[in-house]
Amino acid sequence: MEDAKEEIRARLPVEDVVGQYIELKRAGRSLKGRSPWGVDKTPSFMVSPEKGIWHDFSANKGGDIFSFIMEVEGVSFREALEKLATQAGVELKKYGGGDKKLAERKRRMKEILELSCRYYQFCLTKNKKVCEYVFYKRNMNRATVKEFRIGYAPNQGKALVQFLGKKGYKPSEMEAAGVLNRFKGDLFRGRMMVPFIDTGGVIGYTARILDQGEPKYLNTPETLLFNKSRFVFGLVQAKEAIREQNFVVIVEGNMDVISSHQAGVKQAVATSGTAMTEGHLKILSRLTPDVRLAYDGDAAGVNATERAIMLAGDLGVNLSVISDYHGAKDPDELIQKDPELWKQAVQKHQPAVDWLLGKYEENLDLSSGPGKKEYAGMAMKLLKNVPDAVEKKHYMQQVARKLDCSIEDLQESGKVVESPKRLKKVASEVKNDMVSGVKDNLQAIMVYGGVTGIKGVEMPEDETKLKELEMIFDTRYGGWDSVALEKEAKELLKRYKVESSKQEVERLTKELATAEEKGDDETAAEILKRIMVLKKGE
Ligand code: UTP
Ligand code: MN
Repeated sequence: MEDAKEEIRARLPVEDVVGQYIELKRAGRSLKGRSPWGVDKTPSFMVSPEKGIWHDFSANKGGDIFSFIMEVEGVSFREALEKLATQAGVELKKYGGGDKKLAERKRRMKEILELSCRYYQFCLTKNKKVCEYVFYKRNMNRATVKEFRIGYAPNQGKALVQFLGKKGYKPSEMEAAGVLNRFKGDLFRGRMMVPFIDTGGVIGYTARILDQGEPKYLNTPETLLFNKSRFVFGLVQAKEAIREQNFVVIVEGNMDVISSHQAGVKQAVATSGTAMTEGHLKILSRLTPDVRLAYDGDAAGVNATERAIMLAGDLGVNLSVISDYHGAKDPDELIQKDPELWKQAVQKHQPAVDWLLGKYEENLDLSSGPGKKEYAGMAMKLLKNVPDAVEKKHYMQQVARKLDCSIEDLQESGKVVESPKRLKKVASEVKNDMVSGVKDNLQAIMVYGGVTGIKGVEMPEDETKLKELEMIFDTRYGGWDSVALEKEAKELLKRYKVESSKQEVERLTKELATAEEKGDDETAAEILKRIMVLKKGE
């Protein structure tokens, strides 16, 4: 594996990998750009071609090409490795080995998930309150409950763990399958269970609370089997119908998928608990080019549709929008009102570009100069993603007519916002991590500033981290004398202690809320004790 990594690193310069997402400009021996997470005001993203390292000074993140892809695409190390291997033309299999063990581990995980699914299905039949929720409140019929394998996770803390334990599964295996919480108890308690099913069987769950409460849905964490940026909920059940009817409907919620199937529109799928990615769309584009989005028509719907259009261009997908919900908030609600209305809505789809242009127009005053300018800018930005020349011309003419100007005027007005290169879309969101920022600075001073005697912060040994720290040191502290560095180190250490304790308290407080919500008094008391200890130390 190390060999494969080295080979890929040798073939893919860091500036090329990063350059697919960020516009980089030379700045001395390094390159500079804007943070892909939009957290900086001035360019704060640095790349060192020499070291093969990047560091984002505003988000306090950094590393090599692998960590960059993990962060920017929101994927696991394995996926980042596979992605870059493809780009580099490196065959991972050659470097493989150890795959047997992994296959065995996956097999055991699948067994655990299959067994828990059956267990949850059984528990559903035994619980009156849940049956009432599923059959009456959510209006599912028996066939639907069976097809989607709806179940119930009992509210007992360790019911599933004990059940699986008796069957010979180890806690570590249950954890890998994603059914344990951090205290080695059942992750899902007192919730309606909706399994994530792919062609190989159950790979995870989304679980809905029965009454009000947070979170409404609790999802399996990403595991070796469940990858949220690639999993399409309902696809196994929808595949036939998509092929037959030659279109697919993407809805926002998993419950919308289930309702839609029951209503006879079996081409519905959802991206579970995450925004649509290229991976999702790629999978669907192999089945049909006719992709219809049925998002809620709010601002989030506009953003999601814009995002989808950007992804669709390269995949040859025809995107359209379903928006006539007759006042209902989502497809499920519409179906509860009248399944026929949903069937009609699905047929009344509008090309996504037309729909978006309509939305822009709704929100702007096209009788004013600034309104026209803004509309032109938004329209041109949108139309950049239309790959077909004829289709693009059609829209340009339409927009020009609307603004009472010529296509040349439009292009002039668009030039200001046009960026020279088409960049890849960043899939993940990242918040500035203050604690790791302070720690990075501190470690940089320890290693490259020669300041000793700092307790409570370990010396990093990882080669990549060391290179990143060198870059941080050169950028931040190049030219400082030892007195100044020592003073800075003392300040940083103080801040590090305060901030990390604050962060820990925050984390524990969230955990406390979860434990209380689940009625797990024992755990709650334990957490509270830890919070008190931390607060005393402040
Ligand atoms: P919605 O809140 O719109 O769900 O979230 P819904 O399908 O209408 O739910 P019901 O009808 O109230 O039961 C849409 C999707 O966002 C994800 C889920 O995948 C959900 O299907 N989500 C929502 C979460 O992952 N966690 C949450 O707490 C809420
Ligand atoms: Mn709903």
